[in-house]
Amino acid sequence: QPQSTESSSRRTCSSFTNPAVKPVEQKMGPVCSYNEWDPLEEIIVGRVEGAAVPPFSIEVKANTNEKHWDFFKRSGGCSFPAEHVERAKAEIEELCNILRHEGVTVRRPEPVDFQKEYSTPDFTSSGLYAAMPRDILLVIGDEIIESPMAWRSRFFEYRAYRPLMKEYFRAGAKWTTAPKPQMSDELYDMNYPMDSVTERNTLAARGRFVTTEFEPCFDAADFIRAGRDIFCQRSQVTNLMGIEWMQRHLGDEYTVHQISFNDPNPMHIDATFNIIGPGLVIVNPDRPCNQLSMFKKANWDFVTAPKPVFPDDHPLWMSSKWLSMNVLMLDPKRVVVDEIEKPTQEMFRRLGIECICVSIPFANSFGGGFHCWTSDIRRRGTLETYF
Ligand code: NVA
Repeated sequence: QPQSTESSSRRTCSSFTNPAVKPVEQKMGPVCSYNEWDPLEEIIVGRVEGAAVPPFSIEVKANTNEKHWDFFKRSGGCSFPAEHVERAKAEIEELCNILRHEGVTVRRPEPVDFQKEYSTPDFTSSGLYAAMPRDILLVIGDEIIESPMAWRSRFFEYRAYRPLMKEYFRAGAKWTTAPKPQMSDELYDMNYPMDSVTERNTLAARGRFVTTEFEPCFDAADFIRAGRDIFCQRSQVTNLMGIEWMQRHLGDEYTVHQISFNDPNPMHIDATFNIIGPGLVIVNPDRPCNQLSMFKKANWDFVTAPKPVFPDDHPLWMSSKWLSMNVLMLDPKRVVVDEIEKPTQEMFRRLGIECICVSIPFANSFGGGFHCWTSDIRRRGTLETYF
């Protein structure tokens, strides 16, 4: 029977007798991360193997560039081009090696065949991938939250992470699944206008997105952490009910601030507003923040991200080129940044931050940079107020 000792900071339910679950008696649990920059100890890195092109449903259409719509129409439900997957896989293995070399423990999700079709009482779909743990997993302190993501193709994505979740739970982590959305047609505005960026910008500013308020939904990547203050955006995949769920769930110890940007297609905050240190943010010049004064009052510093230099002829099926600012901090003075993005590297060097340059263009095609491709599980640090 598991025992909770006086010295353990973790509370254990005394009536819980499952012998498979042994809480670890240590100060810092297996899961512990309060911000985006404390020294990194353990990370989950995504996996491209088994990835499938999502069926071209309305929420996918709303979040992808029209130059790729034919690709999605043609290939929805099939695998991505095999050579592209192979090259992305090799790039990510190299990223894992580099992270290990930097002293970080690297964990990976299970390989899953995402082409398999599934049906719920409300819809039929096939899957996407387990490439972007940042989209699904949100670590707040010793708790790991599985997000109720809004894409039907991501309904079962959590399964790839379950062995890891169970392992962390057995070792003492707090493990939460947010209310699973039904994803019936009511969650989507089936008449959402797609064609004009100007129109979408106006709609986004008025709070109209492809997801409705039928039920809570959010992607973890729409939240970014700075100790007791967590910043998030209403996006095409994160609705107000999802944000409210997060605030009520986290309770008084944390404040969830909803912020917004001049962005016609918000989805994932970490290529728009990336907090890289205490009161230090990289901001996207194409997507100005509407609440700058609030940060100025708190004496936060903003650094404008240089224009990305990523080539035009390389496909980015699910994102913009602003993956250049989607960087991963290993600690406040070391960053994993793209080898090709020299202007961004210069920006970091001017800030006194050492660049660890890695190249993942084929992995980028799947919609993420280093921040998206990872989810930090443990960083050495404590809960602080920075805002
Ligand atoms: N959807 C955003 C964020 C990607 C990480 C973009 O394409 O810039």
